[in-house]
Amino acid sequence: MTMMADAGHAPAGAARPPIRIAILGAGGRGRDAYGGWAIAHPDDARIVAVADPDAARRAVLAARAAGVREYDDWRALVADLRVIGADAVVIALPDALHVDAAIAVADAGLPFLLEKPAAPALAELARLAAHVGSVSARLAIGHVLRFTPFWRAIKRICESGAIGRLMTIEVRENIGFWHFAHSYVRGNWRNSAESSPMVLAKTSHDLDLIRWIAGSAPATIYSIGSLSWFREENAPAGAPAFCLDGCPAAATCPFYAPRYYVEALAETHGHPVTLLGADTSIEGRLRALATGDYGRCVYRSDNDVVDHQQTTMEFPDGLTATLTASAFTAENTRTLGITGSAGQLTGHMERGTLTVDLFSPGATLPPDLELAEHDTAALPPLGHMRHRVRVVPPATDLGDHAGHAGGDAGLMAAFVRAVREETVGRGQLSFSTALDAHLMAFAAEQSRVSGARVDFGEWVAGLDLDVPDEGAAAGPA
Ligand SMILES: NC(=O)c1ccc[n+]([C@@H]2O[C@H](COP(=O)([O-])OP(=O)(O)OC[C@H]3O[C@@H](n4cnc5c(N)ncnc54)[C@H](O)[C@@H]3O)[C@@H](O)[C@H]2O)c1
Repeated sequence: MTMMADAGHAPAGAARPPIRIAILGAGGRGRDAYGGWAIAHPDDARIVAVADPDAARRAVLAARAAGVREYDDWRALVADLRVIGADAVVIALPDALHVDAAIAVADAGLPFLLEKPAAPALAELARLAAHVGSVSARLAIGHVLRFTPFWRAIKRICESGAIGRLMTIEVRENIGFWHFAHSYVRGNWRNSAESSPMVLAKTSHDLDLIRWIAGSAPATIYSIGSLSWFREENAPAGAPAFCLDGCPAAATCPFYAPRYYVEALAETHGHPVTLLGADTSIEGRLRALATGDYGRCVYRSDNDVVDHQQTTMEFPDGLTATLTASAFTAENTRTLGITGSAGQLTGHMERGTLTVDLFSPGATLPPDLELAEHDTAALPPLGHMRHRVRVVPPATDLGDHAGHAGGDAGLMAAFVRAVREETVGRGQLSFSTALDAHLMAFAAEQSRVSGARVDFGEWVAGLDLDVPDEGAAAGPA
């Protein structure tokens, strides 16, 4: 396994022409994460068309890649796919448009990468699954974290048996107070009817990782959580609807919008500042914050998604897992702990660090891990082995590992390689590998709302889903 090399680069093959890619939606994901990768890897991929109603967003991609055809709606681009001559499509539209666009691209017969969530609601997921099966669509879902050096190392350590039989998995999705306010109180994912429940929008990645490491779907799921803080009754006395309307709590409120968008992000002129509007000057930002979504008082928005949620899962072999997602964290990162019969692993994704305690004297990690740093010590009194590793180089040297700890680049490289090799839709890039994570999210939400534990197998069977058979959900590593 060549984790560092796999993460950001398609394999040699530069003699072949680059894969021609059409991008639907030129926002943060389409333009920056995936489009940015294509532009940075011209031997592997070439953007040939982009659809977005926002001409300024399209122009960013069109200006950096020659001959890009521009469309103001995804439907117009898909109708023109033959003329465009694309080899593959990336769907990075808002959640609510995913299923219609995916069905249209599937009907056009091209392989495609569909951003997660594949569908924002269970009925839509069922509609997509049925169509994928009926036309044997070749699609991959944007679960980028499986393609990070960090999570690949964790998966490898667990499957090597180094920490023995897995007993518990704990994943913490530390959303970060400022990030939560941005996306889940003021931004696109604030309202479950307009987007999806937080457990899907934010933590389908984590459920996917838990499912991947556990090696099977859970037997049961139970979830609790609520929207406790970002509510009108918690607003400071006299707080107006917009921060800039003379809020008396401006100096002390952690969520005072100008402190984030104008001061902390003063040097940033890309995402997330561009979400406010195309004019990223200080004056432009202040104008946007005066009346726009991102300038709203966090206690007076139309948000309804939970601000903290905890989900527990039990797997058939007795392995148990918990997922905690909280708005109320200083950092925006994932942290985890996994225990097994022969050891324990803890990790911090943004730092790329893992500590692996192996209980047997002299015990070693699998030799095929590629690690930036590794030190080992036998600790008293029992001589158990502590391995401290850094999976990626320090943040100053992230390079291709930047977006999602290397996952954006890793997934795009894997997708482009699979388009070449005609393997999109199989193994790690199959729809069925991602389907369980989505179902787990919907089951968790049902449990949270009903207060009852969900028997996962029974619940899925009751859905009568037409699940496409395109490779085992466990998939190859
Ligand atoms: N994989 C991940 O980790 C990850 C991270 C963030 C977001 N996402 C998902 O990626 C998707 C895109 O998110 P984003 O942050 O880029 O959002 P965004 O709002 O920045 O981008 C979406 C773009 O789609 C465009 N659009 C809207 N209607 C359109 C239409 N009819 N035709 C063509 N374009 C249209 C919008 O103008 C916008 O530019 C969402 O589904 C989101 O949930 C995934």
